[in-house]
Amino acid sequence: MILERGPVLLENKVFYVTTPIYYPSDKLHIGHALTTTMADTLARYKKMRGYDVYFLTGSDEHGQKIQRKAQEAGVEPLTYVDRIVASFQELWRRLDIQYNDFIRTTEGRHKRVVQELFRRIYEQGDIYKSEYEGWYCTPCETFWTERQLVEGNCPDCGRPVELLREESYFFRLSKYADRLLEYIEEHPEFIQPPSRRNEMINFIKGGLEDLCVSRTTFDWGIPVPFDSRHVIYVWFDALTNYISALGYGTEDDSLFRRYWPGAVHLVGKDIVRFHTIIWPIILMAAGIELPRQVFGHGWLLVEGGKMSKSKGNVVDPMILIERYGSDAIRYFLLREMPYGNDGYYSEEALVNRINTDLANDFGNLLSRTTAMIEKFAGGYIPAPGSEESPLDRELKSLAARVPEEVDRALNNFEFAKALSSIWELINRANKYIEETAPWSLARRSENRERLNTVLYNLAEAIRQATVMCTPFMPGVPRRVWQQLGIAEKAELHAWDSLAPWGGIPAGIKIARGEPLFPRLEWQGEGAAPAVVCTKNGESDRAESSAAGKEGEELISIEEFGRIKLRVAQVLAAERVPKADKLLKLEVKLGDERRTVVAGIAKYYRPEDLVGKKVILVANLKPAKLRGIVSEGMVLAAVDGDNLALLTTDAEITDGAVVR
Ligand code: MSP
Repeated sequence: MILERGPVLLENKVFYVTTPIYYPSDKLHIGHALTTTMADTLARYKKMRGYDVYFLTGSDEHGQKIQRKAQEAGVEPLTYVDRIVASFQELWRRLDIQYNDFIRTTEGRHKRVVQELFRRIYEQGDIYKSEYEGWYCTPCETFWTERQLVEGNCPDCGRPVELLREESYFFRLSKYADRLLEYIEEHPEFIQPPSRRNEMINFIKGGLEDLCVSRTTFDWGIPVPFDSRHVIYVWFDALTNYISALGYGTEDDSLFRRYWPGAVHLVGKDIVRFHTIIWPIILMAAGIELPRQVFGHGWLLVEGGKMSKSKGNVVDPMILIERYGSDAIRYFLLREMPYGNDGYYSEEALVNRINTDLANDFGNLLSRTTAMIEKFAGGYIPAPGSEESPLDRELKSLAARVPEEVDRALNNFEFAKALSSIWELINRANKYIEETAPWSLARRSENRERLNTVLYNLAEAIRQATVMCTPFMPGVPRRVWQQLGIAEKAELHAWDSLAPWGGIPAGIKIARGEPLFPRLEWQGEGAAPAVVCTKNGESDRAESSAAGKEGEELISIEEFGRIKLRVAQVLAAERVPKADKLLKLEVKLGDERRTVVAGIAKYYRPEDLVGKKVILVANLKPAKLRGIVSEGMVLAAVDGDNLALLTTDAEITDGAVVR
């Protein structure tokens, strides 16, 4: 099974990895940094393993949303996006992202390929002209049928949709549905993780309708080559970036021939559908092989669920990098995301990870080891003795196993698992210090040889862990190599140097340095500046939570103000299986949808709740109850065995603030 999910490119040692191309409608947030960090880590890892790697990212610059944003700002669309695209590139620089190419969909090299592909598919009859009548979600740039809408809104983002009626070109998705299904079934590794593969299979089995692939009501896009009143649908345009950047169909298509179809597309779960249905069908229609894999990762959520400007909870990665350094941010993103599922960001969790994993586990291992080499071995890595104890063997056999585990995990896109394998080695080495107690050995000269062995093994364990950390935290190795005295010995930084044990030469002079990751004080939201962007995009400073002198039982108005209460309307309710107290509620707060799990099953029947307006604690940290992420808490009055939900005295729209 593992092999099925796994990678793929061992034979020809070519690895082509892509990120989605981001919309330059706004600055990027920490969630966007996730995919790009994953892609960079894979690219660096594969390079270390001797692969011929190509890493592509870019920006998706056309479409109605961007045209509107530019209009609002009173500038030309290109002027509008230029500035934002520059901020993307600056973010990637600061996050140590080493891409090979950054494609902008406004570039000529891209436009030509899109037009050519469109024309080819049209000429063979798979694109035809008709009339579109239906719904469009501009923020998602997605067409929906009436049936797909949820309460008249976009089923993906919950925002209002617009009714479109225009002459359009259509792409015969329906014609290819069976072929695609067969392909997905025959290539179990194509869509990862398997849960998303199943979702897509069900989606296709539900029937594919032909896709509208042109628009006439705005003009910020690539013109249909034979009908300039139309611009090409932004997703047709955007998906093509993965081959236009390789020079597909142009005079120099050497990159395309070298890297296609070895592509691994990393995407967020919301756009898996575009990459596993529309994109493969475009390729099938054009007679191009399909990409090797699409991995759909979960979302990085914050308090209150999704990040959104209107909630004012958008976390700016630039501020975080400045404050904590890019290695720590990369580590957090990769370590905190459960495989294929959503993960949570909070600054407190970030600081915890830095203190626990980076400062305590890794940083202390380095500083204790170098301190002991200095104190007990005159600052030179000693040669190990000839005898090997069971503890030594255990450490070495773990070290021999970890690289394979990291390899397997990374090939399955299990970044957190790969890191936790490396940390197994780091923590084993820390335990080895306690077990061998070098400070005791140092007291008696007859233990000299044993002491040398222990110090040598520790230096080697650090070296091995650092080599393996390189793709995840590319800034760390340089500092470790300096301290271990092997900065100039590139051969000891390579993956190949992990086996056999004993790569680090004895007799090297070490150079103790600054702590790898200084411990941070987390003083809570109240004391530290928050790193959220406000609606205006400025960074926000959380007010200090004035404790007041009201006595223990009293809280100040500011403290009360930190609790965000809002009116929510219950859209659906159901019992949580095997939990007799819990109901799962789908609630609506204005444009937003949330899932809330409430312990009220004994007092309310699900059907009686639908339509009710309740009061929700809207900024409660999400919590998982019976596997369901609850994004808030409904308030109820309780008296003994009696419970009544709080509601409003008069009609008021959902989303309204309670104060
Ligand atoms: N332009 C399209 C992609 C075209 S690819 C041919 C697009 N752009 S986007 O900027 O809206 O989103 C880009 C990616 O960011 C998506 O994969 C999306 O899932 C991801 N993320 C946006 N918010 C996210 C989180 N909070 N967490 C993780 N990823 C998130 O869609």
